[in-house]
Amino acid sequence: MNKRIILGVSGSIAAYKSPDIVRRLQDLGAEVRVILTGGGREFVSERSLQTVSKNKVHDNLWDSEAELSMGHIELAKWADVVIIAPASANTIAKLCHGKADDLLSTVILATSASVMVAPSMNQQMYASLAMKDNLELLQKRGVRIIDPGFGEQACGDVGEGRLAEPSEIARQASELFQNNALGGKRVLITIGGTVEAIDPVRFLSNHSSGKMGMALAYASIQAGAETTLVIGSISVDVEKRAKTIFVTSANEMHEAVMANIHDQDLFISCAAVADYRPTKVSPNKIKKDSDKQTIELVANKDILSDVCQLKDKPICIGFAAETENYINNANQKLKNKQCDAIILNDVSNSAIGFKSDDNEVYFIARDGTDKINKNSKQIVAEKIIKKITKEFF
Ligand code: PMT
Repeated sequence: MNKRIILGVSGSIAAYKSPDIVRRLQDLGAEVRVILTGGGREFVSERSLQTVSKNKVHDNLWDSEAELSMGHIELAKWADVVIIAPASANTIAKLCHGKADDLLSTVILATSASVMVAPSMNQQMYASLAMKDNLELLQKRGVRIIDPGFGEQACGDVGEGRLAEPSEIARQASELFQNNALGGKRVLITIGGTVEAIDPVRFLSNHSSGKMGMALAYASIQAGAETTLVIGSISVDVEKRAKTIFVTSANEMHEAVMANIHDQDLFISCAAVADYRPTKVSPNKIKKDSDKQTIELVANKDILSDVCQLKDKPICIGFAAETENYINNANQKLKNKQCDAIILNDVSNSAIGFKSDDNEVYFIARDGTDKINKNSKQIVAEKIIKKITKEFF
């Protein structure tokens, strides 16, 4: 399935989140076109949506520039998925009755694409019997409903009716783009940084946010693999469809990986694992009683190397986080750790690497190197999974 998405934005205060929804959908590699209703226009500007979507915003049923002046048919045929987010009570009611009095409702009638609807309205309106019946009817017709969240609303009420988060809307949309390239395979991925205690208050760690690892988790699940995640310190949402094991230190990560590796087909070591830990962890907070303080460190076990030594080892893919002498250092790691491939990224560049939304990597296998150009970590992850599938499965 291609990824051509129409985002319908209707009249709800949550329309201000629609540029962010466009971005999240683009992160999946989708081309996004926006249809803005008259109500939507009250809450978000056409210019913002045009800028982020990099496409003209559509709002006119009678667009004379459209081929044969039938913009609704062109758009309806173009889309693989139509998502209405936010979907106002009025827009939902119009869909139920098959009305065709504006561009969005007409496109919905004319399309064979999958349709998703993310309601957004006052909690009392959302709780009404009419709304319940309407949503049930849409579901019966095959429309997917992205449930709203609970919380304080713009009007001051508290309850259910807030638009689902843009990341959640994108996540649910991505389920429609699943492929089966790793169907029946088991994948274990380590994610995030490890935390090595110095005393009950201080620790040694690194800048890993978990973004790259979680993007790989997501791509692995999208490819149909049963996916297990061993997760250290992260600052991103956890992929709910994976089996998850949470750890703190490198030792704990080693233990969790070794306990779960034996039936895996693929191991991706994306975690930023501390090479060293303090030799001793002070049971009490270390006092500030001298000008100098020395912490002695001892080497941690190398998880990736140990997995690569296993008799029944899975395909092992490591990462190399480098700041200099990139290709040589990464090749050295590929050789020393004896993995099947290593993914080199430059962590000295703040636009890619640690914490950033984007990455640019070199996929270094024994028989050659491929560059994966700068893109969102999600797209880079999809390309990595595709490459692994092609080379090793
Ligand atoms: O989480 P983000 O903010 O999105 O950032 C992503 C990232 C930069 C952390 C990620 O893309 C990355 O490069 N991960 C590997 C970080 C790292 O520890 O690299 P390294 O070059 O020090 O280690 C080489 C490989 O050995 C890695 O696969 C690492 O997971 C593994 N290793 C290292 C030490 C150790 N004791 N055990 C290991 O398994």
